[in-house]
Amino acid sequence: MDWTPWRDEFPIFGSKTYLNTCSLGPLARRVRAAQETFLDEWDAAGAAAWYDRWLDALDGLRERVARVIGASKEEIALAPSVSVALSAIASAIDPPDRPRVVLSELEFPTVAYQWAVKPRAERVFVPAEDGVRVRPEAFEAAVDGRTAVVATSHVQYTSGAIVDIARVARAARAHGALSLVDAYQATGQIPTDVHAAGVDVLVTGGLKWLLGGTGIAFLYVRRELATDLRPTIAGWFGNARQFEFDPRKFEFHGDARRFELGTTANAAVYAASAGIDLVRSIGVDRIRSRTRELVDDLAERLVDAGHEVLSPREPEARAGIVAVRMRDPAKAVRALADRGIVVDSRHDRLRVSPYFYNTPEDHERLLEALRPFRP
Ligand SMILES: Cc1ncc(COP(=O)(O)O)c(C=O)c1O
Repeated sequence: MDWTPWRDEFPIFGSKTYLNTCSLGPLARRVRAAQETFLDEWDAAGAAAWYDRWLDALDGLRERVARVIGASKEEIALAPSVSVALSAIASAIDPPDRPRVVLSELEFPTVAYQWAVKPRAERVFVPAEDGVRVRPEAFEAAVDGRTAVVATSHVQYTSGAIVDIARVARAARAHGALSLVDAYQATGQIPTDVHAAGVDVLVTGGLKWLLGGTGIAFLYVRRELATDLRPTIAGWFGNARQFEFDPRKFEFHGDARRFELGTTANAAVYAASAGIDLVRSIGVDRIRSRTRELVDDLAERLVDAGHEVLSPREPEARAGIVAVRMRDPAKAVRALADRGIVVDSRHDRLRVSPYFYNTPEDHERLLEALRPFRP
């Protein structure tokens, strides 16, 4: 497949070597066009656009998200951020006899914070043996009959390690606990079927591998749970009779929309929809094999140059994030930025995240610029 037309879809490559999708996907021409469509509709119709267009656009986005993770539309709620989506779901889970929440020490902090602020919650952090990944056996050993939730990332944001979410979900289920997956670093780049994996809850968002920009995130709640769980934070979007405007009567929406709160950022809705359409028009399977080849190429170049790669060695175990140990990673980020190369850093490492639009030539430029930072 010739990937050049896809690269041309992203103007940033005219001036930068962009290798930072794990932080923020670059802006595609068609995503910009979608935002302009939203502005045109706002301009032409004002509030009438809600009824003519925007409510349908929300539904269209729920449908798109459902397709990309193997769910149905009724299992998807929209949220302004993953943190809000997590807060809504965490508000519904507080069984008195199950105070424990099992999660790994590699989680993105916002996952852990949900339970840090719950007075009765006991957080159990599963250790990462090497700062790269957490063995599924470690999750299995940590879950017990007092566990309410087992939370894991699908792809670790600091190393790109792929987690076997089906296995973590099984471990949770075996003890009557719920599984919760933070898939922000996976959705779009890793084929996902939440039903086949047996996942109970999944959160993800639009701005990274789905190429949609800021201001929108998604919550998947398994169908039976979505009608069972009762969030203890609420807003009018979560009311089944939203447009009756009756302040006395709140009736939980009959599906995952009960976790929604208030008015959406519609520019973000349009951008996210266009980003997902772009990803789906290539196909997540194809994206995965392309990204895998790029990651192999990048990891090999880094190792050959003497760098320590803090990502799994096995190609099938790593997604599009390659972490490189550095003494001063922030300094390296700045030095690379001076040469038009965009990457970022976390803790003790540089994160380089190639996606389908990148090329081995991007890697060559990166390696050249990293020369002064060889160990
Ligand atoms: C794995 C993961 N989860 C969550 C987030 C952030 O979520 P939000 O800012 O939407 O709450 C990030 C952002 O970088 C992330 O990488």
